[in-house]
Amino acid sequence: MKRAQIVAGNWKMNLSFQEGRDLAKEIINNSSPNEVLMVLCPPFVHLNHLSTLVNGISHLEIGAQNCHHLSNGAYTGEVSAGMIKSVGCSFVIIGHSERREYFAENDELLTKKVDAVLGNGMRPIFCCGEKLETREADNQEALVQSQIENALFHLDSEAFSKIVIAYEPVWAIGTGRTASPEQAQEMHAFIRSLILKKYGHEIADSTPILYGGSCKPDNAAEIFSQPDVDGGLIGGASLKANDFIAIASSFPQH
Ligand code: PGA
Repeated sequence: MKRAQIVAGNWKMNLSFQEGRDLAKEIINNSSPNEVLMVLCPPFVHLNHLSTLVNGISHLEIGAQNCHHLSNGAYTGEVSAGMIKSVGCSFVIIGHSERREYFAENDELLTKKVDAVLGNGMRPIFCCGEKLETREADNQEALVQSQIENALFHLDSEAFSKIVIAYEPVWAIGTGRTASPEQAQEMHAFIRSLILKKYGHEIADSTPILYGGSCKPDNAAEIFSQPDVDGGLIGGASLKANDFIAIASSFPQH
């Protein structure tokens, strides 16, 4: 089965409104419709405007980087999934390692956020991945298994079919140190085997699993050529239109 190919740009806490608008326009003007879906995930203040910019462009969608797990209420400073949906987003990154690390997001909370995103008709890009000490102890598979089981395996097949998974080894994020193509493939195949056991072939074969962590134009092709790697979640390199477009053009040609 042919899986969706996705390259998502996680802008993190970068770019003013004007800079973000200019970057999005450059990406729009210099990329052409093809089979790769490009998802721009800017800070909240950009979402509304960027949604209008990409409206009607089939290879571009907008996603948020986080959401609150409840729908509304006295939670000063927070933004709900419903609000994100209402400005035209179709994806939300959930469980990024920076959220887990700096905002103490745990599996229990992430389960609720996943439900909030799905409940509002959007697709979670669910992040998982181990820290360096876990890899050095060779416990990365057990850790990633628990992250996925705890936050996602309560879903029924219909709901799970909307999930995008991003494997991001924490030691590779923003460090310039990428997982080798073999390390990425090994973990992606392991994740797909977990999905297979729980949800069966059809869903395992169609779930996009993205790689994230220092993915750049010069290493994307090798990583994307691995059979279980369906694209990337791109941080630093998503802030330059040329680099982001080059990465989205790095899939093997069939
Ligand atoms: P990076 O970030 O590409 O800058 O390593 C990836 C991410 O954190 O999503």
